[in-house]
Amino acid sequence: MLTTRFTEAFGIDHPIVQGGMMWVGRAELVAAVANSGALGFITALTQPTPEDLTKEIARCRDLTDRPFGVNLTILPSINPPPYAEYRQAIVESGVTIVETAGSNPIDHLPHFKDAGIKVIHKCTSVRHALKAEQVGVDAVSIDGFECAGHPGEDDVPGLVLIPAATQRVRIPVLASGGIADARGLVAALALGADGVNMGTRFMCTQESPVAEEVKRQIVANSELDTALIFRTLRNTARVAANAVSGEVVDIESRGGATFDDIRDLVAGARGRKVFEDGDLDAGIWTAGQCQGLIHDVPSVEDLVSRMVTEAEQIIAGRLAGFVDASEPVGALR
Ligand SMILES: Cc1cc2nc3c(=O)[nH]c(=O)nc-3n(C[C@H](O)[C@H](O)[C@H](O)COP(=O)(O)O)c2cc1C
Repeated sequence: MLTTRFTEAFGIDHPIVQGGMMWVGRAELVAAVANSGALGFITALTQPTPEDLTKEIARCRDLTDRPFGVNLTILPSINPPPYAEYRQAIVESGVTIVETAGSNPIDHLPHFKDAGIKVIHKCTSVRHALKAEQVGVDAVSIDGFECAGHPGEDDVPGLVLIPAATQRVRIPVLASGGIADARGLVAALALGADGVNMGTRFMCTQESPVAEEVKRQIVANSELDTALIFRTLRNTARVAANAVSGEVVDIESRGGATFDDIRDLVAGARGRKVFEDGDLDAGIWTAGQCQGLIHDVPSVEDLVSRMVTEAEQIIAGRLAGFVDASEPVGALR
């Protein structure tokens, strides 16, 4: 067992989290993560309406009696989803943990806090982590530049971003982005984090509801097989390299592109087709650089128990072996 401030505060066995994933964070995967002793998040906006979210939470509860949460991703949008109604569905469902992501969660926080819900805010910089701490979230998840999805615009990888954050943030910190195995978990703990958040690795498990073709492609892909789209719009997203993301990058590299120039290529419905039909060039699909560390499609239970066991072996074996037992070990400042 690896016990940290995070596992203790959130009542879970292992310091491992499955972050919200559009089209992927559904009941089957989240329940499998909960049953493994880690913490999974249903992705609210994958459900077409707040009523559907209520049903999805109930479905997850039928599959596990362990804690799980809901991700609410708040993004600026021309036609925003009814965030307050999704939030209300979460509060009324009795879920006890929420992951917020995207914009500052301040408008939603009092509603969650009044309901006794613990909030983990996912962000991409030290300044946003400090802001989230200041407004009262219970933990932060910090995505480095390696991550799948939105890494922000600072381009700071986890090896610098996580210790830069943990030396200033007082609440528990989850390292996110680029983590797919025990080595990443141990490294995150060494950098001062209290646990890890993973997306791409959980997408490539047996219980993940994406087409087998997607899982096979993740296994085949290397750390080089991602593309950064929306860079010129200052809304960068790291996605899998394919014909469509290549075309978007081409259009953006010509300069002066507006969202209208790429709107059809990046449509959410096309991305959904990739996950549902396994047509890998149907649209944009999200994946991170840690694809280069993923070589199999395990069950969630096997993945989590393997990560924890191997992490213990690395800490107590390889790392402990570097320490000269005849010398006293000074206290960590
Ligand atoms: C397919 C996919 C969809 C994602 N969708 C969301 C989302 O809707 N909201 C969100 O906060 N994060 C989303 N993420 C980001 C993950 O929660 C997580 O922060 C990220 O995957 C960590 O990087 P990693 O993939 O290297 O582990 C998504 C990631 C993937 C792979």
